[in-house]
Amino acid sequence: MDIRTTICDLVLETPIINASGVHCTTYGQLIGLDNNPAFGASVSKSCTLYPRQGNKPPKYYSENDISINSNGLENKGIEYYLEMERYMQKPYFISIAGFHYEDRIEMIKKAKDSLIELNLSCPNVCVRPIVYDPERLDDFLKYMFDICKPKFLGLKLPPYFIPGDHEKIANVIKKYPIKFITCINSIPDGSIIKDNKLVIGPNNGYGGLGGGPLMKAIGIANVRKFKTLLPEMDIIGCGGISNGQDVFDYLLAGASAVQIGTTLYEKGHEYIHCILEEFEKVMKSNNITHIGQKNI
Ligand code: DHB
Repeated sequence: MDIRTTICDLVLETPIINASGVHCTTYGQLIGLDNNPAFGASVSKSCTLYPRQGNKPPKYYSENDISINSNGLENKGIEYYLEMERYMQKPYFISIAGFHYEDRIEMIKKAKDSLIELNLSCPNVCVRPIVYDPERLDDFLKYMFDICKPKFLGLKLPPYFIPGDHEKIANVIKKYPIKFITCINSIPDGSIIKDNKLVIGPNNGYGGLGGGPLMKAIGIANVRKFKTLLPEMDIIGCGGISNGQDVFDYLLAGASAVQIGTTLYEKGHEYIHCILEEFEKVMKSNNITHIGQKNI
């Protein structure tokens, strides 16, 4: 069985990638991802121009298939993640976040020869990420592509829920040489109360939600919508993946690869091997020999 996949001609040995934010902030964590054969590629923590401490703890909580985070872009700065390229053997995406046009442009210029996952959908550091407004997104992408000319840039999108929103965003994306999209980032502004207390402190207890079947259903819906609207676009599915069937379902929906966040955090590296093994069994039981066959 062949479980290799491609993201815009880039070959991945397996279709599984970590979701940005989980085990990808430090040298040791990134090397850990690179050394785990269950991952076909890795993504760095979303970074900013300069290192940041992020929000104060408690800023992450997870239990039983649900997570909430208000990390606040704790990261070591773009230079660190660029430097990491020297040590990574497998495809390695630098997740670029930032706050405004200027710092994003400066980072994308620095990383223009790298693999970039541009995260304009971080829920915790600004009032309204530009990916919710097609005009602002269009404005930024036009300005950025004119100036920076990145060689390999994909966009991490937030979940869209309202009918018509996917179309508006797809019409903007179509205008630019975007190599892939990742659907979906965490659901913004969630809040969890446990034992009469908010489980995270920053932002008055609001943060991005991940994990679980509801997240998966929303992720799958976004992948399907965007695959229909942008049939030629490679899509990385993300949200609520905790077993091999989940990986398979995302590929059926139209994804070429998947990212795993909450489950990686909750269950650790070894568990990703189990997910990959389960995925291979599901492929086999469906008589699929390679990704790409019948939408898979
Ligand atoms: C953070 C959270 C996200 O969901 C994301 O996509 C990027 C950054 C954060 O708070 O650091």
